[in-house]
Amino acid sequence: MAKIILNDGLKSINQEVQIVATLASSIAHEVRNYLAAISICAELSEKQLSNIRERVKAASYLIGNLQLQIKGVVTGKPETTDFKRCSIVKNVEEILEQYPFKEGERELVMLGIERDFEYIGDPILTNHILFNLVKNALRAIANAGRGTITITLKPDVKYNRLTFRDTAAGIAKEFLPKMFKLFESQSTAQGDTGIGLAFCN
Ligand SMILES: Nc1ncnc2c1ncn2[C@@H]1O[C@H](COP(=O)(O)OP(=O)(O)OP(=O)(O)O)[C@@H](O)[C@H]1O
Ligand SMILES: [Mg+2]
Repeated sequence: MAKIILNDGLKSINQEVQIVATLASSIAHEVRNYLAAISICAELSEKQLSNIRERVKAASYLIGNLQLQIKGVVTGKPETTDFKRCSIVKNVEEILEQYPFKEGERELVMLGIERDFEYIGDPILTNHILFNLVKNALRAIANAGRGTITITLKPDVKYNRLTFRDTAAGIAKEFLPKMFKLFESQSTAQGDTGIGLAFCN
């Protein structure tokens, strides 16, 4: 009996440690995304400076937000106080404005927007999802030497959907069951750790 209790206790501690480790990795991953974006700004125009200010603000917001999430996990109460009504079009516009596209990359992104829809959530976290999807897709396009990205908004009675599609090589079939798992990556690029899609999920 004592052994069972001990095992259960250990299991629950391990799960908490794992969740905290996941969130800590997400923080490091997303902050590094921002730093990479900042370092790309070699010639600093006023527009780029204001872009940097926005990113620093968003990064510090994200750290605070993830800290609240960790607290939520540890105390068993998820933090949703920053959830509000958001416009999905605003997210798409912001990410296309803020993403540090290299030359020729912005032109690869096409939009299919019938009309806006709202959701209840945190717009900064939604931007992080889009940021990661754009980053993955642009890498896949560069690797394949072909492809475009299409972001489509499909408002509907039952579900509103944002679909994100690229036409590069696609994700290998055998990798699909692992694609949302933390630290699963098929990329050989330096700094790619397999955190992006786990965060999105
Ligand atoms: N658009 C895509 N096209 C092809 N493969 C993809 C695409 N998006 C993700 N993948 C595959 O899924 C893997 C996991 O993606 P994920 O974003 O979680 O990690 P990563 O991009 O390797 O690293 P990180 O996001 O932490 O920098 C990638 O390594 C890649 O093999
Ligand atoms: Mg990624």
